[in-house]
Amino acid sequence: MSVDYSRIIEIWRNAPNRKEMKGADLVAEGANPICGDRIKIFLKIRGGKITDASFTGEGCAISIASASLLADYAKGKALEEVRKLDKEKVMELLEMDLSRNPSRLKCALLPLAALKKG
Ligand code: FES
Repeated sequence: MSVDYSRIIEIWRNAPNRKEMKGADLVAEGANPICGDRIKIFLKIRGGKITDASFTGEGCAISIASASLLADYAKGKALEEVRKLDKEKVMELLEMDLSRNPSRLKCALLPLAALKKG
C-alpha cells in the first residue's frame, strides 16, 4: 500500500500549536534514539481535563505532524483518556498505516512516547 504524505506535509508546515507554553502544568520530552530528534509536549490541565496543548521540537514531518494532531486531539479531553492513547489511535489521527514501516512508525509515536512519559 502506498502512503500519501501530502496531508502530513501540509500539517507539518502549518502546525499552529507548535509553540512553547508559558505556565504549562505538564511538560514532557521524548527523543527518538535512532535519529536524535526530540519533541517536547506542553499541557494545561484543569480539574483532570486538558484545556490547552502545544509542542516544540526538532523532528521530521511525520513526528511534527503527529505532535500537532495529538495536541489538537488532547484539547478538551480528560487526562486519563489521553493517557490511554495507543499507536492505532496515532495512525488513525495521521490517517496512515505505518505498521509495515517500523522506522517511520517510531517517528509517528515519538510525541505519544513523550506524552506518556509525562
Ligand atoms: Fe527523527 Fe522522524 S526522522 S523523528
